[in-house]
Amino acid sequence: MRVSVIGTGYVGLVTGVCFAEKGHQVTCVDVDQAKVDAINSGVSPIHERGLEDLLKKHVGGLLRASTDLPGAVQQTDLSLIAVGTPFNGREIDLSYIKAVSKEIGLALQTKSGYHGVVVKSTVVPGTTDEVVCPILEAASGKKAGVDFGVGMNPEFLTEGEAVNDFLFPDRIVLGGMDNTIIDQQASLYEGFPGVDVLHVNNKTAEMIKYTANALQAMLISFSNEIGNLCTAVKGVDVLDVMRGVHVSRYLTVEMPDGRRVQPQIVSFLAAGCGFGGSCFPKDVKALAAHGQRLHAPMDLLDAVLKINEQQPQKIIQLLKKHFTSLKGVRISILGLSFRPDTNDMRESPAIPIIRSLLQEGAVVKGYDPVATDEARKIFSVQELMLSGSLSDALEKVDAVVLVTRWDEFRAVPELLKNKNPQPVFVDGRRLLDKTTIERYEGIGFEAK
Ligand code: NAD
Ligand code: UGA
Repeated sequence: MRVSVIGTGYVGLVTGVCFAEKGHQVTCVDVDQAKVDAINSGVSPIHERGLEDLLKKHVGGLLRASTDLPGAVQQTDLSLIAVGTPFNGREIDLSYIKAVSKEIGLALQTKSGYHGVVVKSTVVPGTTDEVVCPILEAASGKKAGVDFGVGMNPEFLTEGEAVNDFLFPDRIVLGGMDNTIIDQQASLYEGFPGVDVLHVNNKTAEMIKYTANALQAMLISFSNEIGNLCTAVKGVDVLDVMRGVHVSRYLTVEMPDGRRVQPQIVSFLAAGCGFGGSCFPKDVKALAAHGQRLHAPMDLLDAVLKINEQQPQKIIQLLKKHFTSLKGVRISILGLSFRPDTNDMRESPAIPIIRSLLQEGAVVKGYDPVATDEARKIFSVQELMLSGSLSDALEKVDAVVLVTRWDEFRAVPELLKNKNPQPVFVDGRRLLDKTTIERYEGIGFEAK
């Protein structure tokens, strides 16, 4: 199939490259000329395992990038909308969705034959039918369900795992206003045999996406609240508590051969310094605001957000156990991206932690295996020094704070071993064994 992907960010680029890998003819469209040029020269604008290899394999063949949206609509059978849907402080910001819908609609004026328009961005329930569809009809002068179809196909990839998640999905949700647009999407996904495919209406597809993200975010905040209580109780470690919960038959499955296996959802039942990223924070806020607007307040999600906003401050509290004032204290932050294996720093807990430390007068340096350029866009040289390696990050500091679960950080106990004096070590993710570091502090644990 000939597919255009409108918006070539994390989701759009991965989608485009992976559909090319499945044999489709893909045009990735973006307003950002630099991104388009990078893609056409085989360079991925984002750090995502395996993405650049696939990009190089298909660019110039089944894949190309362009800034020409009308041309891309003309030359393809289906357009996937994958532009950003940020939270504007009050509600979901649909301005990019609306702008692209209008542009696609205008392009459809002169297009002969049926065209599918499918929203891949995460949008609140009702957006596809009540916002996108009317804009397309008004701009094209044509009728939805006759001249073009409107669908909703949410994306469930996790950053850092995106290519694998896309090529080997756990489910494919195909929302649509009618069978024609659902069937068209089903042909697009023909190359994914054996995967559960759900055929639903557009609002259900939209709702599935938010519900999945809200559940994961809720488990994280629940674990953080339990961790905070463990700290207050003293003499209890949240790791031991959660281990005791994880082994229940609800969270550990016994296989026919007797092996006990933990489903991945258990990885969200862990205390830490809070969730970040371009999805959980904005999606939970958008859903809660949408509920409020519909007179269906979402008290549970409000609490999930409140707990998450407070969580980075737990790091500051742990540091203050060791320093009466943080003024002039040299602190190293390990991990700047919002999760490992990505350079994405959107809403990373590292940002509020660093800001609070700067406010307290600390001297802060940071280290991340791949997010250095992103960090420089957020913090000036005066605010944040950047270390070139992990061992560099551990040099001449009074305290170290681990914010992201990068595998590389497992080497910290070995690297700290011969230092004298030892820096205070605050484990914001409970990644390391507390017995392997002399001055260890962790979320959800306070010695008696
Ligand atoms: P992003 O900000 O990385 O990318 C959006 C892209 O759209 C940018 O490159 C931007 O230049 C482009 N764009 C904006 N206006 C445009 C226009 N008029 N025409 C063409 N291009 C335009 O965003 P993202 O992280 O890829 O997220 C996109 C959507 O997917 C969001 O709704 C998000 O919630 C959802 N989502 C994201 C993830 C993720 O892991 N990042 C996972 C699942 C779903
Ligand atoms: C998340 C979901 O996991 C994906 O299924 C979904 O498709 C995606 O959002 C989306 O809608 O965009 P992502 O945000 O990329 O994926 O990464 P996660 O691994 O889920 O991490 C999100 C945040 O939660 C990170 O900041 C991570 O550190 C944090 N987290 C995760 C915790 O604080 N505690 C945990 O136990 C697990």
